[in-house]
Amino acid sequence: MRKPLVDPKIFQKRRDQLAKTMQDGSALVLMSHPEMIRNYDVHHPYRQNTDMFYLTGFEESQSVLVFIPGSENPTTLFVKKKDPTMETWEGFHFGVDGAKEAFQVDQTFPIDELEERLPKMIVDCSAVYYSQNHHYGQDEKINGVLRKVRALRGRSGEGNIPLMDSYPLIGELRVIKSEFEQNEMRSACKISSEAHIELMRATRPGINERALHGLFIKEIKQRGAAREGYGTIVAGGNNAVTLHYVFNDCDLVDGEMILIDAGAEYHYYTGDITRTYPINGEFSAAQRKLYEGVLKVQKNLVDAVKPGTTFKDLNEQMAEGLTDILLEVGILKGDRKKLLEGKTNAEKAYFKFCPHGVGHFLGSDVHDAGKSKKDRSRPLEAGMCLTIEPGLYISKDDTDVAAEFRGIGIRIEDNLLVTPDGNENMTAKCPKEIDDLESLIGSNSDIWAGAVTE
Ligand code: GLY
Ligand code: MN
Ligand code: MN
Repeated sequence: MRKPLVDPKIFQKRRDQLAKTMQDGSALVLMSHPEMIRNYDVHHPYRQNTDMFYLTGFEESQSVLVFIPGSENPTTLFVKKKDPTMETWEGFHFGVDGAKEAFQVDQTFPIDELEERLPKMIVDCSAVYYSQNHHYGQDEKINGVLRKVRALRGRSGEGNIPLMDSYPLIGELRVIKSEFEQNEMRSACKISSEAHIELMRATRPGINERALHGLFIKEIKQRGAAREGYGTIVAGGNNAVTLHYVFNDCDLVDGEMILIDAGAEYHYYTGDITRTYPINGEFSAAQRKLYEGVLKVQKNLVDAVKPGTTFKDLNEQMAEGLTDILLEVGILKGDRKKLLEGKTNAEKAYFKFCPHGVGHFLGSDVHDAGKSKKDRSRPLEAGMCLTIEPGLYISKDDTDVAAEFRGIGIRIEDNLLVTPDGNENMTAKCPKEIDDLESLIGSNSDIWAGAVTE
């Protein structure tokens, strides 16, 4: 019998917290993600809906949480029935009784009874929290349930049960990490950092991007991570100019840089680290100039993260810092004040060379939940986790820029926990200083001996 990944008491505590923020007499309905077909009858690896895991710890597909605080049985899980034939093919399922016991919920039912039972369970509720527009098929199912509820309400004059979005509600809990979560984040960041170091050591010209990608997966899984937290980016040379480069299939070229953006997911918490360095282990003059500039901006941004700071402040600081660097190296020319004109960053001159923001909340999702306001002016609070990730991206085709800088994409990304008086850099052990990088790069390139055809 498999065991829950994390002590179920943690999830009970989270549901108790959530109950305090829900409208009186309301219910929450959360559905697991559907399985996605990869090809014919083969599925993509399954990963639970983050909110579902956050509130239950339950990892199986075809499951639904119904949470009605204050009712006789506040927490109900609908799950797959035990099915020995299916288990022969797919392995262990907790089943109805097993899930109740292992996840310490009030009641469990077979998932195929959802549409019959759910309307009766929520008919007297004041509202239902459910997050629409993630999966069409699930919305259809819930619409069917709501139609039944209205029918059950008959001529009471109550009409439809009001629907509210559960995503921001749960997001507000997720955005402040408890001590337990902070430790999980530290673990995810430590695993991610260590794996990045192994990639630095294994990097050399001639290796394919996909080989380094494979090595990252090996290194994180070896350290207990279940999977990557998002699609790893291993981008040599000009590939790094594509912000979310996906191909990871080119050979690494002597004299070019490599950008690796990769994070380990550990117990449903992810790291999100980017490091950039020369493939042959030695920064050229132009690479050094740009890298030192981005590093200075990045370190100043890290220093600025504390309670009260906003992403808006940090974005403005990044715009100024990158503009200064671009002026210094001669990629931008003209009046600093003019170059920084514009209501949004997208209107400023530097944005052509860094068309993304300074960072984002980080947690169970790489771009984690939590409101930050449209203008990103929400003050940071202790317990929040975020990334700081300025970059500069100069296309090989940009003939407006001196040839020595073309085909270089640099991003330096760390993961921070906001503390009461500043921040803790959870990825500080992942090297980013030039000397440290130069002494590490290629120091274990023997790893490929006999395994790579040049
Ligand atoms: N790895 C995606 C990001 O940094 O936002
Ligand atoms: Mn990021
Ligand atoms: Mn990243």
